[in-house]
Amino acid sequence: MRLIFCCGVVLLLTLFSSISHGGNILVFPIEGSHWVNMEVLLRALHSKGHNITVVRSSKSWYVKENSTYYHSITVPVERALGQEFLTSLVSSIIEFDRGNLPLMSFLHITIGMTNTFVDMHRTVGEFVSAMFDDQELLRKLKDSNFDLVLTDPCWGHGIILAKYLNLPLVYNVRWLIAGEAHFSLAPSPVSYIPITGTGYTDKMTFLQRVKNMMVYLITKIHYYSMITQTYQKLCEKYLGPNSDFFELSLSADLWLMRVDFVFEYPRPTMPNFVYMGGFQCTPAKPLPQQLEDFVQSSGEHGVILMSMGSFVSALPADMTNEIAAAFAKLPQKVIWRHKGDRPANLGNNTLLVDWMPQNDLLGHPKMKLFVAHGGTNGLLETIYHGIPVVGIPLFFDQCDNLLRLKERGGAQILTIDSVDKDNNFLKAVEEVLNDPSYRMNMQRLSRLHRDQPLKPLDNALFWTEFVMRHKGAAHLRTESYRMPWYSYYSVDVGLFLFGVFLLVLTTVFILMRCLYCNVCKPKVKQE
Ligand SMILES: *[C@@H]1O[C@H](CO)[C@@H](O)[C@H](O)[C@H]1NC(C)=O
Ligand SMILES: *[C@@H]1O[C@H](CO)[C@@H](O)[C@H](O)[C@H]1NC(C)=O
Ligand SMILES: *[C@@H]1O[C@H](CO)[C@@H](O)[C@H](O)[C@H]1NC(C)=O
Repeated sequence: MRLIFCCGVVLLLTLFSSISHGGNILVFPIEGSHWVNMEVLLRALHSKGHNITVVRSSKSWYVKENSTYYHSITVPVERALGQEFLTSLVSSIIEFDRGNLPLMSFLHITIGMTNTFVDMHRTVGEFVSAMFDDQELLRKLKDSNFDLVLTDPCWGHGIILAKYLNLPLVYNVRWLIAGEAHFSLAPSPVSYIPITGTGYTDKMTFLQRVKNMMVYLITKIHYYSMITQTYQKLCEKYLGPNSDFFELSLSADLWLMRVDFVFEYPRPTMPNFVYMGGFQCTPAKPLPQQLEDFVQSSGEHGVILMSMGSFVSALPADMTNEIAAAFAKLPQKVIWRHKGDRPANLGNNTLLVDWMPQNDLLGHPKMKLFVAHGGTNGLLETIYHGIPVVGIPLFFDQCDNLLRLKERGGAQILTIDSVDKDNNFLKAVEEVLNDPSYRMNMQRLSRLHRDQPLKPLDNALFWTEFVMRHKGAAHLRTESYRMPWYSYYSVDVGLFLFGVFLLVLTTVFILMRCLYCNVCKPKVKQE
């Protein structure tokens, strides 16, 4: 009887505490593949009893208005950058890589792209202005008593609103507006930390280090010019003339990093960086019956999965034909996420699909190989499930991501211009299928990745709730971002000490000279 009573009390207490700890979270997400992983985090927060409110624009193409696990606030805007932008970016990169586009027009496109990026951030700025112009909305946001703002700092809208509402700020982050997040706050010697886009590893030759430094400086300049053209103006307009967007963006309480050191090269970090790389990975769930039947029909040979990501709707037809022909020569079954025309010489072992449960397929025991473009989400899933990779990187960080796997013996990389030459694709696929070392290396990474005290997602949830419990995490945050660069790098102190040294040296020199004169002059007279 007493036992039952005690159990009842404990149950009530846990119920009560889970309710009373239910926080109120305001989310400013960004579009595209970034929303895919933000959604995983939001679902988990919702299942822990938190109330989630997502702010989206009326032109949003990924973030839905109605959902079972979040409330949404829709901000009416005139325009937003659509998917066409990325599709055209991808096709011009492919054309250039294959030598079909002359350098001059490629440069023209690249400069155009930079302007397009600035324009994209301007549309985010219009989104911010639309919020600030809506007094009703601002009052509603203020009255809702949110506990924190969660945002992906690839766009700056959440940062500005968090400051305006004076709320603790949590990032779901790998990239800031330009560049990898670590570089903005953690000490980052470019002597052994490769900049994304260089395609270098953590062991660089002298000339590679020269290029690494140059790319680093260019990225910095790019970042500053991008921000001064867009978000800095908004800050001054809505938060007061003295506010500085750089400082705001670095003053977040907690950085939930989509990084795992099984994947990323080891490097210095910060106390308020929490690593949650692979948080979206879960053990495989059963496949839909039709797909399961197809997978089982592969017999002992197993299955190959191919996906070029959510943005890439169509590779050039001649390239897909070549890939289809290569697949047709293999004894394995192939599941290919493909949009666009059906390749002419598709083998009868290949299944084209619009969408697939990628995580569940990668976790299937018959899975042998993943042909991927190298997005972070997909590669962390392959690490989790221990599946070797043949990578065809297209743009952004994809080549560098794949390189990290190749370095560790888990992947082969094909460049766009070589995919359809000399059977390269078939050779790479066969090599990875037939050499067991690729699979063994990925399985090793998988074991390392899974051997953690807390699952990455639980870690992220714990720290998010930590910030809510303590109304921020200022004690974990260095104030270094408030320093001017010459103080940060101790240039002022160095100059000062050098000055003192010179002063002492000069004084000693003068003293010696006087002494010498005093001692020597009488001698001269004596002579
Ligand atoms: C959850 O958020 C919504 C939208 O902001 C709000 O209307 C609602 O009252 C909140 N619920 C709780 C329990 O805080
Ligand atoms: C979302 O729900 C609201 C209210 O129930 C409804 O008016 C609206 O049409 C829904 N929107 C979509 C896209 O389903
Ligand atoms: C599939 O192709 C293989 C080899 O070309 C052939 O032996 C087999 O009969 C084909 N199967 C079907 C169902 O068409």
